[in-house]
Amino acid sequence: MPFQVVGATTPQEVWVVSGDRPLRVSEMVVLEDELLGNPQAQVVETRSHNRFFPLTTDQGAPDQQVLQALQLMGYDVQQEEVHLARVRLLEEAPFPVRVGVTARPATFAEVRHRLVRTSPAGGLVLGVIKSTEEMVAELDDDLRDLVCTMRGDEVRPQDGVPFLIDPASWQQYPHLGIFGGSGSGKSFAVRVILEELMRLGLPAVVLDPHFEMDFSQPAPGLPPGRARGFEGQFRTLLIGQEVGVDFTELGTYDLINLLGAVTPLTEPMANAVELLHRRMDSYTSFANRVADLATALEEGKAGLDRRSQDPSLPVQEKQRYARLLELLGEFASLPLASVRGIQWRLRRLEHAGLFGADIRPVEQLLLAGKVAVIQGPIWLLEVFAAYLLGNLYRRRRSYRDALQRGEQASFFPPFVVVTDEAHNFAPRGLDAPAKRLLREIAQEGRKYGVFLVLASQRPALLDETVTAQLNTKFVFRTVRASDLEVIKEETDMTADEVRRLPYLPTGDTFVSAAALGRTVPVRIRAAWSAAPHARDPWEELRERQTAWQEKAWEAVADLLPISTANLVHLLPKLRERLGEELSPKEVVDWLDHLAREGRLQKLQSPFGATYRLPG
Ligand SMILES: Nc1ncnc2c1ncn2[C@@H]1O[C@H](COP(=O)(O)OP(=O)(O)O)[C@@H](O)[C@H]1O
Ligand SMILES: [Mg+2]
Repeated sequence: MPFQVVGATTPQEVWVVSGDRPLRVSEMVVLEDELLGNPQAQVVETRSHNRFFPLTTDQGAPDQQVLQALQLMGYDVQQEEVHLARVRLLEEAPFPVRVGVTARPATFAEVRHRLVRTSPAGGLVLGVIKSTEEMVAELDDDLRDLVCTMRGDEVRPQDGVPFLIDPASWQQYPHLGIFGGSGSGKSFAVRVILEELMRLGLPAVVLDPHFEMDFSQPAPGLPPGRARGFEGQFRTLLIGQEVGVDFTELGTYDLINLLGAVTPLTEPMANAVELLHRRMDSYTSFANRVADLATALEEGKAGLDRRSQDPSLPVQEKQRYARLLELLGEFASLPLASVRGIQWRLRRLEHAGLFGADIRPVEQLLLAGKVAVIQGPIWLLEVFAAYLLGNLYRRRRSYRDALQRGEQASFFPPFVVVTDEAHNFAPRGLDAPAKRLLREIAQEGRKYGVFLVLASQRPALLDETVTAQLNTKFVFRTVRASDLEVIKEETDMTADEVRRLPYLPTGDTFVSAAALGRTVPVRIRAAWSAAPHARDPWEELRERQTAWQEKAWEAVADLLPISTANLVHLLPKLRERLGEELSPKEVVDWLDHLAREGRLQKLQSPFGATYRLPG
């Protein structure tokens, strides 16, 4: 039996009934209403009813109209299996779709322009578009077998249309955001994005507070020929060892920012740095000047005079006192506390090794089209990021500006800035060393070809100016209400999509992109390289548990609602999906667990319990 439109709830939405197979959420269909030019639509909600769950209006069923339409069409809604789908038109129709017209799954050719906007040769191949399984056979050759997906240990070949992002579109729609709760798949997605940047030879700087962005090892468990390391295309650089700040190149403004990044400077401290710092100061010359001034202020003019007049003083010491007196003459007005404040901040940075190296390795990597992964403790990373990004951005901007003016300039490439825990670098309502710069890049980076990829588990804590500029947002599983609120405001996701966010399996995401014009559900592909081994064994255990729960959730999700009365019929399916001989009691325990967690709603009746999605 074909799919058929059975009722319109709003002008933008219709209900479709399908006899043979249930439609999938997000699947694309064509409504064969010729008057409207056969509009395309997408499934936003599905329900299945059978004689254990007869379709009645008191069960939150579509509505009376749908029920009557089904009866008119000859369905015995009390007895037969009925699959219903609520379907939203992709472009609003001028008038409602005619009830009774047939619907059918869209072919790849029909929706290709919506799904694939670039080619694997120039685009980032990030995953598979969900609910496009039926289109695999129709794919063009260059879109086949590009990826595989992984769930736990199970590897699947590419079972849908590949999801590609075109970096050329960033000119117009710059910056990616990656949001989702802990363990939802953000870091994994960042890895995949970076692998693709490396494949395409696009330069990137990564701020890696978790020491997890290493790409040298091939991922285990993938089919032959798939896994690979990216040795030679990236380098990890530890702050204080391979990269650091060249003190002699620091401007006074940079220095004030650096010191302030350790702990904010007071006004008098900033003034003091301004007075004390000289062009081409080395760390030693500046630090000595500060230390000498501190001594001088402590001793005071009277004390220094007295000591310097001691006739037994060696010449060297005499000279030193003369210098201290000179400093005091020049800077007597500076408060001792401020000078001491500068002194300990300087020492803290020096101890971290910040002044022991420079940023040349980063520049070289970017010039070679490679990825520079900057590692260090988060506080130092924040301090260094402000300096590093400021420098790189300035270099790129001066190059572009010089070109504009028709002047000669040494080339500096466009690049991508990638960071996890982005809310630390650009926190909402708080100051942070790199925030001003990230805002600037967010607002004008595209003019210069500098783009952001920012991941955060707390979109609600990320600076709103930055968030608003992220034209493509990957939204992974999100549970927290305040974060859902921000996502609702900052994306074009529909209410139905937002409702599904708390239940997304790890690695599944909604991509909301200005360039795509609508939200696309995507399974992020398997990474070709392996994350370095997790250090924490408990984390490993938690991951295993989560993995099982995930699998179990997926096994029940599309069977919902489930009633205990109906359980025996579902058991074989569940056993097959989970590969385990579950008893009915174990299934009920699992459902109860989900109900306690709030993922399911449990309804008691004299005939047993029913579990369904809440709300
Ligand atoms: N697309 C995916 N395919 C397969 N496994 C994934 C995928 N995304 C995440 N995982 C696994 O799930 C776990 C958590 O993912 P991770 O990216 O670290 O989460 P987050 O950064 O959001 O906290 C990791 O062990 C990772 O291997
Ligand atoms: Mg992470």
